[in-house]
Parts: sequence; structure tokens; C-alpha cells
Amino acid sequence: MANKLQPFFSEVQQLVDEKFDSCFEQAGIPQKLKDSMLYSLKAGGKRLRPILVCASYFAYAKDVNKVISTAAALEMLHTYSLIHDDLPAMDDDDYRRGKLTNHKMFDEATAILAGDALLTNSFGLIANDGQLTAEEKVEILGLLSLCSGPAGMVAGQFLDMEAEDKKSTLQQLEQIHSLKTGELIRFAVYAGAYLGNANETQLTYLNKFAYQLGLLFQVQDDILDVVGDAGKLGKSVGSDEGNLKSTYPKLLGIDGAIAKKRNLRSICQGAIEKSRCRSVIFAAFGRLFQPA
Ligand code: IPE
Ligand code: IPE
Ligand code: MG
Ligand code: MG
Ligand code: MG
Repeated sequence: MANKLQPFFSEVQQLVDEKFDSCFEQAGIPQKLKDSMLYSLKAGGKRLRPILVCASYFAYAKDVNKVISTAAALEMLHTYSLIHDDLPAMDDDDYRRGKLTNHKMFDEATAILAGDALLTNSFGLIANDGQLTAEEKVEILGLLSLCSGPAGMVAGQFLDMEAEDKKSTLQQLEQIHSLKTGELIRFAVYAGAYLGNANETQLTYLNKFAYQLGLLFQVQDDILDVVGDAGKLGKSVGSDEGNLKSTYPKLLGIDGAIAKKRNLRSICQGAIEKSRCRSVIFAAFGRLFQPA
């Protein structure tokens, strides 16, 4: 399944990369800041969120150009979140996407500002897109702000830091994970389907599906931090334990976390049954959720 979709993945990756390049044509970006932004953007992330935007869109519509700025904006914003997540004040990690983290390669101030620049640029990308109507821009920008902001991804990152060295309940952990990771995934699925003109009922089902998918993705990430291979992941493993993070393996043990992942996977399947894009989204994500 994944092989058949490889051309789709490659096309999305290429279009998103071209969109990034167009952002750096604007005059006035200091060279080192530009280098730092491009260093993380082009470091070889999996581009899962843009793939999800496009997969969700393709379930309902055809012209991929309509969603490329949204897909690229989301990946820029995600990249900012990773740069800041790796900072010494947060997870203090040295490797990301197979390379030194941004602050290790450059310096902390540059990494913070590269993150700020990617964040602000992501909103500009959508605002200046020629393919979207004014109404679509307002809807997408509002949703992106909500999902990424102080009641979305940033809230999750805040609660994740607050939970270090504390014993969270499963309910608290689900909240942290759904916010810090799930909200951008929810945005990806929802925005793609919305721009593809999915109807209200489909959007409601997709929204439920995306919530579970976001949670599933972070449970998998927690598991990989324990049993994954740093070389394959391109980032340090054991970081969560070192930072005394609240994670699923910590609360449930590794077997319990794997069982939780399986359970979430079947909930996801159930949630997607009622919408019309089961195959395309699951094909895009299915290979990520093989048993750890
Ligand atoms: C890493 O996300 C951070 C989490 C939310 C778990 P990805 O695993 O999608 O990282 P990249 O984009 O491929 O580097
Ligand atoms: C990060 O979660 C989520 C965001 C960056 C918003 P993690 O801290 O678990 O991500 P990794 O493991 O460093 O990629
Ligand atoms: Mg973190
Ligand atoms: Mg981290
Ligand atoms: Mg992690």
C-alpha cells in the first residue's frame, strides 16, 4: 500500500519544498536567519502533516494546488515547534531529523528567532495565497491559530513541561498529547477536507478520527523514544526518561503503551468508517503504526 502511494508522497514533498523556496525569495531576510530556517526546514522531516492535508483533500477534490500553501504553512509551523521543543529550556535535545538541532548548529538566539520566523511566515503563506478565496483564508487562518496557539499546541507544550517530574493521570496525559501533537494533526485532516468541500457530516466524523489519530501518533512517538533506533528516527532516544516526562510507557509500561496504541488504532478505524476517505488517509499513515 505504502509503495503504491510513494509517487503521491513524493509529489506532495516536492510541491511543499517548492513553496518553501518561494518564501525565501522575499528581500530583507538576514542571511544567517535564512540559513537557520532552511537548515531545519530542509533537514528531511517526513512531511506527514502536508501529506495528511493532501490526502484528506484528495478524498473530496482533485486540484492539489489548492492546498499546497496550507500544507507548506503547517509544515513550517510544525518545524518551528520542533526547533523550540529542542531548546535547552525545553527538551534540551541535540539531534533532530538526523542532524544537530538548530540551536546546536547555530546558537540559541538564532534558533528561537528562526522558530519565530517560521511561525509568522506560515500565516503569511496562507494570507498571500492566490488559490484560496478570502472566506477560505479566514477560516483556515483562524483554525490554524486556534490549533497551534495558547489553547492548542502551545498549551500542550506548556502542560508537558509542567508535568515533568510529576505523576500525571491518564486523563491528564491524554490532554497533553492531544494538545501538543494532536491539534496540528487535527488541523491537517480538517483543513484538507474543508478545502476539498467535504460536507458538515463528513467534517464532523473526520474531526473525531483526527483527534484519535493525533493521540495515536504521540503514543507511537513515546514508544519509539523507549524502543526506537536513534539512527532511523534521526533524533535522540531516551530523551523522555532523561527529562522525567509524562508518557504512556511511563504510566502503562511499554506493553501497556503498545496495547493502548493498538486500541487507538482500532478506534481510529471505527471513526473513519463513516467518512469517505478511509483508504487514502490510512494508507498514508498505516505504515507508521506497525507494532513497535
Ligand atoms: C515529531 O513529529 C514531533 C511529534 C509531534 C511527535 P514527526 O515525527 O512528524 O517529525 P518530523 O517532521 O518527521 O521530523
Ligand atoms: C513534541 O513532543 C511535540 C511538539 C513539538 C509540539 P516531543 O517532545 O515528544 O517530540 P520529540 O520526541 O522531541 O520529536
Ligand atoms: Mg517535548
Ligand atoms: Mg522533544
Ligand atoms: Mg517524543
